[in-house]
Amino acid sequence: MGLFTKKPLNILLAEADDSEKGLKRTLSAGGLVALGIGAIIGAGLFSLTGIAAAENAGPAVVFSFILAAVGCAFAGLCYAEFASMIPVAGSAYTYSYATMGEFIAWIIGWDLVLEYALGAATVAVSWSQYVGKFLASVGIHLPTSLLHGPWDEVNGVNMGGIVNLPAIIIVCLLSLLLIKGTKESALMNNILVILKVTVVVVFIILGWGFINPANHTPFIPENAGESMMKTGEWTFMQFFGSEEFGHFGWSGILRGAGVVFFAFIGFDAVSTAAQEAKNPQKGMPIGIIGSLLICTILYVLFSYVLTGLENYTVFHGDASPVTTAFAKTGYTFLNSALTIAIIAGYTSVMLVMLMGQSRVFYSMSVDGLLPKFFSTLHTKNRTPWKTNVVFMIFVSLFAGFIPVSDLGHMVSIGTLFAFSLVCIGVIVMRKTNPEAKRGFRTPLVPVLPILGVIVCVGLMAGLPVESWERLAIWLVIGLAIYFFYGKKNSNMSRRLND
Ligand code: ALA
Repeated sequence: MGLFTKKPLNILLAEADDSEKGLKRTLSAGGLVALGIGAIIGAGLFSLTGIAAAENAGPAVVFSFILAAVGCAFAGLCYAEFASMIPVAGSAYTYSYATMGEFIAWIIGWDLVLEYALGAATVAVSWSQYVGKFLASVGIHLPTSLLHGPWDEVNGVNMGGIVNLPAIIIVCLLSLLLIKGTKESALMNNILVILKVTVVVVFIILGWGFINPANHTPFIPENAGESMMKTGEWTFMQFFGSEEFGHFGWSGILRGAGVVFFAFIGFDAVSTAAQEAKNPQKGMPIGIIGSLLICTILYVLFSYVLTGLENYTVFHGDASPVTTAFAKTGYTFLNSALTIAIIAGYTSVMLVMLMGQSRVFYSMSVDGLLPKFFSTLHTKNRTPWKTNVVFMIFVSLFAGFIPVSDLGHMVSIGTLFAFSLVCIGVIVMRKTNPEAKRGFRTPLVPVLPILGVIVCVGLMAGLPVESWERLAIWLVIGLAIYFFYGKKNSNMSRRLND
């Protein structure tokens, strides 16, 4: 008893309706789509597209985006069903509490820290690099020691950093904004979203006329290993185990999809704000699927133009391919404006991630699995301000000191793990609560969720072994907290024992 205690739907829904005491319902469907786009378009698009093209897929990075989008769509459709059915803050954590019980819910809630808190830290590090470059372009040179953490390296050489100060500053500023209130944060998010969507659209429209067809030929660069398989010199396993795998050809498109997956992370953050949506039954599916769809279209067009403007080989190790490619157009005077808008775009990703994180801990605390401290609302703003402060410190420490690639892999593995459990959860929920009212139904259950799990686990398998080890360590710490605190203080277990 205890470990698999489920939180009944009627209790969850009653909590959601209790909006007098809880979070304010201020977000419209449009606001939710903006929230999704706010979390989605960021470092993945503006930094990783060029790198995935140069190292993995060439111009066919366009296909990598489509592949990653299909994988995310499976999970997105599952999220949409849950979010329209259980419109309570807490996202995947709450869904698993209702379907697979407290223990799995705890694991997933704990795991979401990797996606949201470390996601915010990853983008903060990337943000700081863009800011450093921009300031240098206007003559302000920040010392390297204050732009990099102590373990940051380029090509095996330590950068001589002490702390990534801009990253810490932005995390603190955004956390303070979140404490001020969801409405204020949503307004700021809408402005940032308009700005970054404008950059992407301007880049596509202005760049289109300067596409050089030679840069798109061949569209899928050849992979020597694939050719050797065709002639029978290599078996598939020989190819799979070789250095050739993942560098161009179809295997490159596949690995490229794993890299650009980061660019889609965030659509699920919409579901963490379910309790703040005005009409969650309709708004949640629109917010999740709508933002995913809009971003996919923009990503495909953006990557097509990017690789058409400049040869993909030029983007090797280039963290700001937008300005590199844009130099091929006649509009280079727009470069600074683009950079500023990109910096703004990163800001909204961090904002939504930090907000999602605080809402997950808020829900876990309301359930008694974490101390009450985390669900104390600010008397005037009604935001979980103490959680915001805790994560301001936690995320700042990671952003200030840990290298970006380590952070990025942790974010991807944590997110894929959460997506897999949500897909499984939809199948379980259809069996255990077939009659429950669903504002949106995932099509083709159980085939679609099973495909979702396969894609997510496949992408996890492609991540480095160290990220698996770190995931395991993180989960062990989480289990210790659960058995020493959460299990004993769980409201559901208490209720059932009384
Ligand atoms: N999808 C977000 C980004 O690319 C995490 O920055």
